[in-house]
Amino acid sequence: MSDLKRFFVPWIDQVKPYDTDDLLMAWSRPELKRMMINENPIPPSEKILNAILEAAKLGNRYPDNGPRIRAKIARRHDLGPGNVYISHGSSEIIDMVMRLFVTPGDEVLLPNPTFSLYGIRARAVGGKVVAVDMTPDLQYDIPAMLRAITPRTKVIIVCTPNNPTGDFISDDDLMKIVEVGIPTLIDEAYLEYHPEHESKAHLVTKYNHLIVAHTFSKAYGMAGIRFGYALADERLIEYFRKMQVPWNASLLSIAAAEAALEEEEELKRKAAYNNAGVDYVVKELSKLPGLKPYYSHGNYVLIDATDAGVTGKEIVDYVFEKAGVLLKYFVPLRGRSGFFRISLGTHEENSHCVHSIKKFFEEREKERKA
Ligand SMILES: Cc1ncc(COP(=O)(O)O)c(C=O)c1O
Repeated sequence: MSDLKRFFVPWIDQVKPYDTDDLLMAWSRPELKRMMINENPIPPSEKILNAILEAAKLGNRYPDNGPRIRAKIARRHDLGPGNVYISHGSSEIIDMVMRLFVTPGDEVLLPNPTFSLYGIRARAVGGKVVAVDMTPDLQYDIPAMLRAITPRTKVIIVCTPNNPTGDFISDDDLMKIVEVGIPTLIDEAYLEYHPEHESKAHLVTKYNHLIVAHTFSKAYGMAGIRFGYALADERLIEYFRKMQVPWNASLLSIAAAEAALEEEEELKRKAAYNNAGVDYVVKELSKLPGLKPYYSHGNYVLIDATDAGVTGKEIVDYVFEKAGVLLKYFVPLRGRSGFFRISLGTHEENSHCVHSIKKFFEEREKERKA
């Protein structure tokens, strides 16, 4: 046996892989309610399924880099096809940004809390994660982020709306970061739930250090099909191409995404369905004393139960055991350990989950009085 330790890149042991335990459990026990990973509960339409089937008939052929879909995406953002890079979900864009800019010891600046994959992919290339706590009301702490910039800061992450906090960064705050001139990934994974909110894609024509990422995993509901894209200055996209693994977007996922782009009403319907779920969960959980749900523009709601005297983990464990609902809890933030997140499901699942949380508090109240 070879001593592989000698050969691995030295920073690999600092990488903790993305936690997929919940997903493994959800796939092996289909009766569980998957409300832990920000999926869309509505399956792909017939049109998308047919497009995949048609593409599969040519599955013996390598795909191209999607000139037709890149042109369509570009038109939506008033950009050219040369500004678009298509990918295996937006996770690939996140990874690509790290591989392009970060060498061992370089720093990646991001808000805390945010999507965990940024940190994981930064560490995978030897980068150091500099996580700046959001303000107590869970907004970007821009002065603190600007203070945290050093000569080794190579990438800044702006997730908007942020996962899991749910709010958009304000234009003023965003521009303070953009004007610094450091490569900045603006992750708009959830934007399609609120198309009335302007994408920041237009900024890439003025600022060549910006990358705007989109995905079809959320409002489009194609997480398992895997398709995303990056928008950036043409020269930066050329660097993406130098770094990319060819055929990263499969023929099937390109066909599915093209079909999805033609279904504008379907997208609106999915967004409206989700947003009604957000309203319901926020409204119902606000009624429970000590529970603070944060209104979300994504397909998830973050809740702080600290003032109710419970941890997020206690609630998550209870609804799993009693109601078969998978949720996610978070490590303490600013000493508050009550954070947990509900990823919206179907209306029935949302109601099932809310009732279980209410029951948790009723039972606690009974125990307290007993
Ligand atoms: C903010 C954010 N960006 C990107 C992703 C990854 O999405 P994709 O499925 O496109 O890789 C997620 C997934 O949850 C996310 O929350």
